Amino acid sequence: MTTVPLLVEAKGLTKTFRARQSLFGRRRDILAVRDVDLSVGGQEAVGVVGESGCGKSTLGRLLLHLLAPTAGTVRFDGQDLAALGSDQRRRLRRRMQLIFQDPFGSLDPRRTVGNQIADGMLIHGLATDAQAREAVGDLLEQVGLEPTHATRLPHEFSGGQRQRIAVARALATQPDFIVADEPVSALDVSIQAQVVNLLADLRQRLGLSLLFISHDLHVVRHLCDRVAVMYLGRVVETGPAAALFEAPAHPYTQALLAATPSLARRRDTGRPPLSGDLPSPSDPPSGCSFRTRCPHANSDCAAAVPPLEPWASDGHRVACWRAAEIA
Ligand SMILES: Nc1ncnc2c1ncn2[C@@H]1O[C@H](COP(=O)(O)OP(=O)(O)OP(=O)(O)O)[C@@H](O)[C@H]1O
Ligand code: SF4
Ligand SMILES: [Mg+2]
Repeated sequence: MTTVPLLVEAKGLTKTFRARQSLFGRRRDILAVRDVDLSVGGQEAVGVVGESGCGKSTLGRLLLHLLAPTAGTVRFDGQDLAALGSDQRRRLRRRMQLIFQDPFGSLDPRRTVGNQIADGMLIHGLATDAQAREAVGDLLEQVGLEPTHATRLPHEFSGGQRQRIAVARALATQPDFIVADEPVSALDVSIQAQVVNLLADLRQRLGLSLLFISHDLHVVRHLCDRVAVMYLGRVVETGPAAALFEAPAHPYTQALLAATPSLARRRDTGRPPLSGDLPSPSDPPSGCSFRTRCPHANSDCAAAVPPLEPWASDGHRVACWRAAEIA
């Protein structure tokens, strides 16, 4: 296993949201992220996959400290984000950025894209007005647009171009780490690949670390070095993308891949795809959370939460009591 110096390191990360009181007076907290250990190395791209509601976006925001964890720590470049004063945190924040799913929602419709790209540079004191204007032109070129586009408003661009603008805005503070939360899923299929290729290219050229959240296993396979598979707030399997997709060890990952035939190996295609509904994150099953949908579940699976244990020497880890039996 190659060791990459860690840029982001989360340990025991947990986020519980207070649920509103229901009509019947019952209040159950939402266990959005549960006891997650996750790291992102320098210049590494880590994919996070899992069904809707499994905690991917919450995890991304926790890593950037845009949300405070209920428990656990996040270290960025060795520094515990929760222990920093607001000034120190602001300085570190320049080095981390978020790209959202919906570029239109994240851009101000009344301000020129140039001014919006320049914001981060000015807020962090990285440039004077004149320097920022020049840098905006360079950034627009880096994402495949024209410097003259700086004076236009967001509605003058297509969805794909707006996502390029959001990427330029994220790059403006010269970050080391970007969380891209479903950055292409709102775009037409025909332009998704262009934006994914842009991210892959920028990552190589600028040496960025990336947390790439996506429903699309093909894109994750293409872009990421490592993958974390989440189910009901927990990481149930993680490892090098190639190894994990080639030989998934967790029944949940196997089911996700069975639903993506072009990625599944021939021997995996006979496996059942996912059935049943995702249980509520405010009342997850005891023991292994996947047991209510798992074709291999037995009574032992309800007794205790399976730990995320080494599965292979390449860093592949799996949280399943029966992984060795069903392999
Ligand atoms: N601010 C919040 N307040 C209360 N509950 C929240 C909040 N944010 C997220 N949740 C809940 O936490 C759980 C995890 O949500 P999250 O948005 O992280 O999932 P996700 O994996 O990103 O889903 P999707 O794929 O749909 O984007 C969900 O049950 C969600 O409803
Ligand atoms: S621990 Fe049991 S229920 Fe959970 S994935 Fe493994 S076999 Fe299935
Ligand atoms: Mg999300």
